[in-house]
Amino acid sequence: MATTTEAATGFDLALTEEQELAQRTARDFAREKVLPRAREIDEQGKVPRELIAEMASLGFLGIYVPETYGGAGLDALSYALVSEEINRACASTGVVMSSHVSLVVDPLLHYGSDAQKDRFLRALATGERLGCFALSEPASGSDAAAMRTSARRDGDAWMLNGTKNFITNGASADIAVVFAQTQPDGGSTGGSERAKARHRGIAAFIVEKGTPGFSVGKLEHKLGIRGSDTAQLLFQDCRVPAANLLGGAGEGFKIALSTLDGGRISIAAQAVGIARACLEDSLAYAKEREAFGKKIVEFQAIQWKLADMATEIDAARLLVWRAATLKDRGEDHILAAAQAKLFASDVAVRAARECVQIFGGYGYLTDFPAERHYRDAKITEIYEGTSEIMNLVIAEEILKE
Ligand code: CAA
Repeated sequence: MATTTEAATGFDLALTEEQELAQRTARDFAREKVLPRAREIDEQGKVPRELIAEMASLGFLGIYVPETYGGAGLDALSYALVSEEINRACASTGVVMSSHVSLVVDPLLHYGSDAQKDRFLRALATGERLGCFALSEPASGSDAAAMRTSARRDGDAWMLNGTKNFITNGASADIAVVFAQTQPDGGSTGGSERAKARHRGIAAFIVEKGTPGFSVGKLEHKLGIRGSDTAQLLFQDCRVPAANLLGGAGEGFKIALSTLDGGRISIAAQAVGIARACLEDSLAYAKEREAFGKKIVEFQAIQWKLADMATEIDAARLLVWRAATLKDRGEDHILAAAQAKLFASDVAVRAARECVQIFGGYGYLTDFPAERHYRDAKITEIYEGTSEIMNLVIAEEILKE
């Protein structure tokens, strides 16, 4: 494991021309096409499919997939830059993209067989098909290994039974990466060994929409990121071809956790994007709004809030860039990703609270974006590993030393 100090060395903060181009392209697209629709997306509870198609045409849905598989062939840092820009405009649109890229495209790229890449990765990278990641269940969230969805071998297929909860893109996705327990009784082990071994029976499956026995259940109503759909997925004697097993039968848990390590970087980038929206909107408002005979931006009480927001956003972004760079180098990024997510999500929640405060009464109204940022920011402390789980991961990594 790279220690915190080691991981902080040897970084070049200058972006390459390619990375700058990705950032600029995403910034222009976000400003022109996403930001003007952010309120409507939130109110109508839907990111329009044509907006997703436009992101796909810019290469964002397969951003670090090699060109041979229809991707843009860029790197994880470019993806973080693009994520920040899209989320600065609209966090719902951002999470539709990140659930697809980080949680479906990424494991297909890293663990998929050549045949699976040909069949699924290409369609996902080009945005022809949308993906979702089905890990959480009604009774297992943070304790992911406690899942009850089962997978039983049945000839040349696996029979899946169970329920998945809180699945981002669950209703709109064409392909789901689904995790299930192949040894519901703990296999041949017993007692505490059984508890320890439970994750070793977990497998990952690629399940296509339309597979008999696979259906979408309840659609959730949420505090924020309302434009992205969050659904329950139901599996009832769902027969999945053995060729759709992703990785080995006992590799599912490691696939899930290593995938989430990458996902946490993009959620951290999302948090930076939301925090930046808070700062930029607060700045614009504070320069316009007058109180006691002057613009409120002239008051130190407001300036200090803005200064704290700006400083924390820069610090969070540096953590994101470090984690993404480690991922690009193929180095261990478990610690760096958890630190980036823990810190950036905290920054986003604080920035959103201050943004509402700076807007005052107007901050509480849906006419202004502040309340949306406030609602959207909160989820970054919860999904893809809560802040408490991030602390646990960080502690475990630093104690390994
Ligand atoms: N990568 C690969 N393997 C890993 C790993 C990692 N980051 N972390 C641990 N492992 C391995 C361990 O080495 C161990 O393997 P061995 O048995 O071979 O030694 C195995 O996994 C089990 O490790 P633990 O005993 O540490 O596992 P645990 O059951 O105690 O769980 C945890 C650890 C960190 C709490 C983990 O369960 C976790 O991250 N929970 C949070 C789950 C989560 O983030 N859910 C989000 C849902 S998805 C979502 O939100 C998406 C969405 O829709 C937007």
